[in-house]
Amino acid sequence: MTQDDMKKAAAEAALEFVPKSGIIGVGTGSTANYFIDLLATIKGRLDGAVASSVATAERLKRHGIPVVDLNEAGTLAVYVDGADEATVHRALIKGGGGALTREKIVAAASRSFVCIADEGKLVEVLGRFPLPVEVIPMARSLVAREITALGGEPVLRQGFTTDNGNVILDVHGLKILDPVALEERLNQMVGVVTNGLFARRGADVLLLGTANGVRRLS
Ligand code: 5RP
Repeated sequence: MTQDDMKKAAAEAALEFVPKSGIIGVGTGSTANYFIDLLATIKGRLDGAVASSVATAERLKRHGIPVVDLNEAGTLAVYVDGADEATVHRALIKGGGGALTREKIVAAASRSFVCIADEGKLVEVLGRFPLPVEVIPMARSLVAREITALGGEPVLRQGFTTDNGNVILDVHGLKILDPVALEERLNQMVGVVTNGLFARRGADVLLLGTANGVRRLS
């Protein structure tokens, strides 16, 4: 079974969490893309979806799924999205695709966050995947110095601007033993918009595609 097969299996398992009507939140990335393609097969029962990125909005529209502004949608029943790393406690690193801020907003607006991933994303300690931090451009150097003082190695994501017009610092060299504390610490830095730790509010359900089927952690 390939990594893509495992992503697809996790995406398929998430269909069970899609309500019979209403509006859901949809994430960004290759695993979320599999979910969107499957969602198209049951689109008749949904009023629409809130997208966590421009790319996701375009894919939803191509499938004929109405894209709804979060401000018009109210609380969403469920948000389905991938992750770059996950622990058994369902704390995550996200933002490899640079959509972390909108992802965190849509997750916060949802009653349940269902995370879908291949089993290769499961780790004991978060941090081998560089932690994305979205930063207001003029604060780039200031925030980089503060992160270096914390022991991280920030690297500017070259040639990349987020959907919100900001830059991303990918922070290498972290061994994140207390993800909640680090998430809060980074959020306190002036100039930081969001960081890719989803620990204060992690996933409610983690669906991991494995060679032996989908493993569910909740
Ligand atoms: C995008 C994300 C993605 O969910 C994360 O990067 C995982 O991507 P993929 O499903 O392609 O492995 O956080 O900002």
